Amino acid sequence: MIDGERLLLTKKKTIRVNEDTWIVLFEERIDFSPGQFVMLETPKLVRKPFVLGYWEDHTAISVQVKGKGTKWIVEEAEKIKGHGPLGNGFEKPGKGLLIISPTCLTMAKAFERTMNVDVLVGSRTPILTPLEYETVIGNDEFLKKLSSLPEYDWYLVSGSRSMEKVCWEHLRGKEVYFSLEEYMGCGIGACKSCAVFTESGVKHVCTDGPIFRGDELCWS
Ligand code: FES
Repeated sequence: MIDGERLLLTKKKTIRVNEDTWIVLFEERIDFSPGQFVMLETPKLVRKPFVLGYWEDHTAISVQVKGKGTKWIVEEAEKIKGHGPLGNGFEKPGKGLLIISPTCLTMAKAFERTMNVDVLVGSRTPILTPLEYETVIGNDEFLKKLSSLPEYDWYLVSGSRSMEKVCWEHLRGKEVYFSLEEYMGCGIGACKSCAVFTESGVKHVCTDGPIFRGDELCWS
């Protein structure tokens, strides 16, 4: 059942992607734009952000298990409260390349519905489910791949901070966007926990992003 911005999501199934990441499919449909996210509640009322996407034609998120809250979402939860969709959607003409970690696989499916994109997945550990995307395993292979990327009109990177940095080093000067995965407390601009420094001052990932142009962000 979806009531305005409040969500009550029923977990349909989970699919293990690699050592620590799962795709979680929901029964309910959420009307969202690619790039938007939801805040989901874990048992201790800690809210966590997850970029919205699809898998097997269901609304889905990708979850990297980092602690008790994310473990609960993957292993125990049947119904999950939350709110969303939040943040700004993203849409670009031309042909883009998404460079993502397994935590963004479901987001890639949402981008494919409205934009012309190829997808490159970089994973630290072996992939445990069949993927239709080009996938490189390990840092060395990922760096090799980055050095020989074909030209695209734009690029969007979504993964760990170290993945963002290494992609920026290789793609600086091109039209590159980053979907940031900062810590978020509220998702609605109230707690200021998601502040990032940009060329035009402090911005908040939840209300100004979560997607920013690379040359807008301060990298030092
Ligand atoms: S998460 Fe609270 S202001 Fe962005």
